[in-house]
Amino acid sequence: MSLVAECKVFRFDATFELEQQPIGVVSDVTLDRRDAASAMRSAFAELKSADIPVISLLRNMSETSLRDAKNLGATCCLSALTPPAMVARTVMSQVIQDRAERPNRTIERGVARATEVLTRLFDSARTNDHVSMTHVDASLDPIISAVREGGLTRWLDRVWTHDDATYQHCLLVAGVAAKFSLHLGFAEDDRSHFVRAALLHDLGKAKIPLAILNKPGRLDDAETAIMRTHPVIGYEKLKPSGCDAATLDAVRHHHEMLDGSGYPDGLSGNAVSDTVRLLTICDIYSALTEKRVYKPAMPTAVAMAILSDMTGRLEGGLVQSFGEAMAHNV
Ligand SMILES: [Fe+2]
Ligand SMILES: [Fe+2]
Repeated sequence: MSLVAECKVFRFDATFELEQQPIGVVSDVTLDRRDAASAMRSAFAELKSADIPVISLLRNMSETSLRDAKNLGATCCLSALTPPAMVARTVMSQVIQDRAERPNRTIERGVARATEVLTRLFDSARTNDHVSMTHVDASLDPIISAVREGGLTRWLDRVWTHDDATYQHCLLVAGVAAKFSLHLGFAEDDRSHFVRAALLHDLGKAKIPLAILNKPGRLDDAETAIMRTHPVIGYEKLKPSGCDAATLDAVRHHHEMLDGSGYPDGLSGNAVSDTVRLLTICDIYSALTEKRVYKPAMPTAVAMAILSDMTGRLEGGLVQSFGEAMAHNV
């Protein structure tokens, strides 16, 4: 027998004061008691958001008790008569299983939240409805946590299976932006702002015909002219939504280049904001490395060589940092 984890005991009606996030919880209370059930409901709600195993010991194993415990947030139920050694073994196997599954779970959650947000935004933009920013911010933390805990490789592998090419691209840019901002050590607020701009940057594509968006191969001049309207469309759609000025600027200007060769406003030098300088790198890298039925993914090294060759158009120092961020890609 060895010590696998420190165990702390709390009365059910006490406030949890924990210095560290617990790795798992065993509850041993009579849930038939109303005060106990209500105390456990609030405690479990907190623990559920911490996303850890919660094992509930039950006085009776009736279907109703099991359902009540699960509804409260228990991830596993055992009889209160279970020998302590077996409870300890169950805790550890749940914790080990939870740790193994956690990276994929955070990826699934992040992709699901971000896809839900993109679907709402693009649907509103397509049908000329008011674009609401209400749910956007709630998706940023799941995206950042997914990339931090699950790793960018898992994020990209999952997103590459997305069936809509435009959503796939926005999710890729958001994941790459999350990784870049984590690598650069951005403060939490700056990180969220940057990932929000990445998620929203191509919203204007909602109004671009699918035949152009999904055309395999090169666009002709007329198609390119239509495609190039998307930054302004996205900006116009987001402007009445209460979206902040920095994000609006990033959406409008994410195809501007430092040498003035970009569009739609031909900005150059200092007129190109820091967010845009970072976002263009993430955007181009994601576009180069995207997988399509007609195009295999370009290896990271080749994509980085292309970015490095864009001296004068992209900021060299940032391209170098970006390369380092992608090289530490786990
Ligand atoms: Fe774009
Ligand atoms: Fe893009």
